[in-house]
Amino acid sequence: MSNPSILILPGDGIGPEVMTEVRKVITWFGEARGIQFDVSEDLVGGAAYDKHGVPLADATMAKAQEVDAVLLGAVGGPAYDNLDFSVKPERGLLRLRKEMDLYANLRPAQCFDALADFSSLKRDIVAGLDIMILRELTSGVYFGEPRGIFEEGNERVGINTQRYTESEIERAARSAFELAMRRNKKVCSMEKANVMESGILWREVTTRVGQDYPEVELSHMYADNGAMQLVRAPKQFDVILTDNLFGDILSDCAAMLTGSLGMLPSASLGAPMANGRPKAMYEPVHGSAPDIAGQGKANPIACILSFAMALRYSFDMGDEADRLEGAIEKVLADGARTADLLGEEGVDPISTSEMGDAVVAALQAGL
Ligand code: IPM
Ligand code: MG
Repeated sequence: MSNPSILILPGDGIGPEVMTEVRKVITWFGEARGIQFDVSEDLVGGAAYDKHGVPLADATMAKAQEVDAVLLGAVGGPAYDNLDFSVKPERGLLRLRKEMDLYANLRPAQCFDALADFSSLKRDIVAGLDIMILRELTSGVYFGEPRGIFEEGNERVGINTQRYTESEIERAARSAFELAMRRNKKVCSMEKANVMESGILWREVTTRVGQDYPEVELSHMYADNGAMQLVRAPKQFDVILTDNLFGDILSDCAAMLTGSLGMLPSASLGAPMANGRPKAMYEPVHGSAPDIAGQGKANPIACILSFAMALRYSFDMGDEADRLEGAIEKVLADGARTADLLGEEGVDPISTSEMGDAVVAALQAGL
């Protein structure tokens, strides 16, 4: 059998430097564990625009469709802010999500014990936090038609459309219930059924799907209340199921509970391919952070944890994912901190590459 294939798309800003650290980890798994991957690399976002005039070349899109998993760094930066909307770096990312049909976006928010004091909330509110946001990723207002800026009378009007079909809601909901079955068996679905018809349908469909999972406790919450509850008492949640736009916002909020955006991975999964693996792309939740790019300040952990999610969800190597997550926990417990995690007495920051080296050393020590 051929090795599992991974396409690396480092992208812009800190993307390339955090991805360099992921490559060290991939190399370690090959050498120390005999788990080989066929790794290729290509451009996305501003980097692709610079070379091809588009944020994702068709050939790259085709490659992404063929591999077992895509690992993406980050896209965007000030140099591209004034580009036409159609070629902005973010369009490259959205094209990957849409054309690969990656409808289930898993965004875990876990608080590492060693980092509980970095949260803007009190330690006891976040210590031990372990929630999973399931964000629908291929529909809703991000993609609904009509959209655009139109002339209307003597002024312009900007239009986007929130649109969800029953089947789109259903498949996202199923993913959430399946996840909950492997966790604490609770799903909280968030929408705005008080003001949006799409929210009413969302609530109906999730309730119907929930009947197939009698062991899972399903609750519903308006998304604004959900945002409030996330910062009031986040540990009440297990799996949060929500749409594309609310999920974008709520996941940033949940991310910050854990202390740093530099810690959080994500997986975007679609339907199974012929080999049984889901279509998949893995990326850190953080952005391209152009202000610190190229300075060795970025925290590579979110991107390394994204690779751990790939081990778990694409390659059925949960034990190896545990091993990698355990190594990261160890490194943090030992006091290693990148510049996003400063503030403790007497702690000097280590660089992006030193953090990657520390993770590899912890992996090796754990054999
Ligand atoms: C995210 C990001 C993206 C989104 C941007 C970069 C298009 O904020 O993945 O959360 O809005 O989905
Ligand atoms: Mg976002």
